[in-house]
Amino acid sequence: MKLHCFPAKTALTAISKNGFPSAQALPNAKPSGEEFMSKLLDRRWTLLSPDTKIHQITVSSTQGRKGGGLFSNVSFSNNNQPRLGNKMFEDNQGLSFYIVRDDLLHPFVNGNKARKLDGLLPLIEDHGVTDVVTCGGCQSAHAAAVAVSCAERGLKSHLLLRGEQPQIPTGYNLISTIYGNVTYVPRSFYAHREEMLRTHANMVADNTGSVVYCNDIIDASLASHTYDSSKFVQMDAPRGTENNSNKVAIVNEGAGDAVALLGLFRLVDYLSQDHLLGKKKAFNFVVDSGTGTTAVGLGLGAMYLGLPWKITAIMLADTVDSYRQQERRLIAEFKRQFCLLLDSEKLNGANDGIVNWVDRCHPRKFGNILEGEVDACQQVAQQTGILLDPVYTLAAWETVTRITCAHEADANVVMLHTGGTLGMFGLAQRYKSHFGKRNNAIKS
Ligand SMILES: Cc1ncc(COP(=O)(O)O)c(C=O)c1O
Repeated sequence: MKLHCFPAKTALTAISKNGFPSAQALPNAKPSGEEFMSKLLDRRWTLLSPDTKIHQITVSSTQGRKGGGLFSNVSFSNNNQPRLGNKMFEDNQGLSFYIVRDDLLHPFVNGNKARKLDGLLPLIEDHGVTDVVTCGGCQSAHAAAVAVSCAERGLKSHLLLRGEQPQIPTGYNLISTIYGNVTYVPRSFYAHREEMLRTHANMVADNTGSVVYCNDIIDASLASHTYDSSKFVQMDAPRGTENNSNKVAIVNEGAGDAVALLGLFRLVDYLSQDHLLGKKKAFNFVVDSGTGTTAVGLGLGAMYLGLPWKITAIMLADTVDSYRQQERRLIAEFKRQFCLLLDSEKLNGANDGIVNWVDRCHPRKFGNILEGEVDACQQVAQQTGILLDPVYTLAAWETVTRITCAHEADANVVMLHTGGTLGMFGLAQRYKSHFGKRNNAIKS
């Protein structure tokens, strides 16, 4: 089957100094960019719809109030039915930012995991896979997301979790043990994760089954899909192999492969509808980053649609050089896998970087919590009804608050709430001293 390739008319230029795409690149890009995107998005998805809620957070000054906490000088309030589209800035009084509530997508699947698995799982299903093997830390949101999402589709999941079994399972670990088949792996063995995943997948496949890598599935589906049907769907493969044995797919830790970008593109496409954020206004999107895949997905999606959006990614787990390298790797992988479908010249603009990688307001070793951060999460929860966690989403909230209060020129700020709610349970167990003093005990 010959793949349809659109003419390469437009090349977007790289982001300018302030991080927004340069204006002259945008008008040209729209028609064919949208066409490319709609082809790419015309496929089966895990999420029934890309919809997500957008709330508006007003930030008010409380100067002079006592206390030296993270947000002691401000208070927050949440409008969960803000005016959007053309009316977005009509009655804006005071300082505010928008928040995309991907934390509400699923009770157990993290917002950004739901997006990353959105394009992948239907491809796995279409390939006739029966079992999925993946790995992560003991409290891995990714492992839990794979376990829940597989169970919802009748697939078996096998989760290799690093370290020892905790005495009391909680948070994502608890969900993983309920929805999936968990094996705890000593750290020394986990250090060689490729070999570990392969060995375990071979064991699940047994002598009669087979093992495939996700990237092979994507390549196979690209080679065999049909555009005449205008659906990016591989012809149904029977589940399992011919002799009814297991067909095992290996999903890399964190699902940080190029296929994960598709779900983020779908989100960008959804948000850029005229009645939501639209295609013309400049927004500064802020997102907390682990592997950086979510940020790169937002950036590439915005670039393809010619949106004047800047993506600000908060580096939580690595150095700026590593994040830039990861950005280049993802784009190269995406080019390799999807360039037949897309105008790969448009990606040339991405070579200079599409994401602004910034430090966390208070940098630290990844996973650590600083004094006052649990109080800050408590303040935000009580004032807005929104739960943040100190490892990931508090970092983004702090940054959007800082940008909003500083009246920065690009202050149409949107935070992507990536979820992580269940992470709080594991953290409360690990950092007892930070969580221990929350109650006002009534003394008799
Ligand atoms: C709540 C939350 N936010 C952000 C991230 C990081 O996402 P990415 O790896 O796509 O940068 C994670 C990853 O585990 C997460 O759980």
